[in-house]
Amino acid sequence: MIVIYMNKIKASAPGKVILAGEHFVVENQPAIASAINLRTSVYISTRIKKGIEIYSKNYDLHRLYKIENGSFHDKLIEDKLYPIYFLVKYLLNTYNIEVRGGLIITIDSDIPPGSGLGSSAAVSVATVAALSKFFNLNLSLEDISKIAYKAEEIIHGKPSGIDNTISTFGGVILYKKTEGFIRINSKLSDMALILADSGIPRFTKDMVLKVQKLRKKYPEIFDPIYYAAGKLVRNMVDAIKSEDLIRLGELMNINHGLLSTIGVSNMFLEKIVYTSRKLGALGAKITGAGGGGLVLAISRKERAIHIYNGLKEICKKVILTEVSEKGVL
Ligand code: MEV
Repeated sequence: MIVIYMNKIKASAPGKVILAGEHFVVENQPAIASAINLRTSVYISTRIKKGIEIYSKNYDLHRLYKIENGSFHDKLIEDKLYPIYFLVKYLLNTYNIEVRGGLIITIDSDIPPGSGLGSSAAVSVATVAALSKFFNLNLSLEDISKIAYKAEEIIHGKPSGIDNTISTFGGVILYKKTEGFIRINSKLSDMALILADSGIPRFTKDMVLKVQKLRKKYPEIFDPIYYAAGKLVRNMVDAIKSEDLIRLGELMNINHGLLSTIGVSNMFLEKIVYTSRKLGALGAKITGAGGGGLVLAISRKERAIHIYNGLKEICKKVILTEVSEKGVL
């Protein structure tokens, strides 16, 4: 039994963008994701009274989960903060940790929630890493990612695992469900990422189900599309390794066409994509589950501000960022 008295501890983890392969990755095609320079920080400190207190600055939500006689009182699973509480409970139970008093967990994030930038995975990864530091668990990066995935399952059903993986390890990765990931070594230092928010909420679980339903109905049409998406990703790896932004952009455009084909685009997303290209983006596509959420455009850094300003005229929120080499810290 480990008994803990400690001060405030912090861990942080990045958000991500998917450069190619979303949705196709669910059926075991490869995908490429990059960590971005937006991060979520999780702080842990002790509470004199018993219970797990969770505070999310972004959602302006506050919850107190009680612990009585060592057992936890489960709250509704629909609660936005439940996955964090779940992770605390999981680690305390798995590592047989007894907390004198309770814990205060504070989440502060630059990553807009619900936009496909992996905000939930970043919160889960940073929470597990912060708890690991707090309780001296020395969890490996693999362990952190695996445990964070458990919370992702609560939120998203059966996600591919790409979000927790990229948030844990950072950089640019090639990911395949059954093979895990490999890092693609490239600086992409001249590449700007411009993320335009459609303002339309998107629901990953529902979009994944929608695509799978259509795929089941037309397997002989969908199979070659999935095959092409896999080939596209392999091609993109070469473009990234050689820092060929023109080719990378063209492949992103083709990938967007495939995503439209499988039913995850809509009129406004198309408008953002075509406006980005007209403004001089080298490539533009839906990133993440689609149906709403974000469009990702890439350009050389010198061109980025022009595209950013142009997109600001049709989207309330536009983010200018870049690839981040750093994973969880
Ligand atoms: C969501 O960020 C990406 C999807 O491919 C779902 C997943 O990978 O779990 C749509």
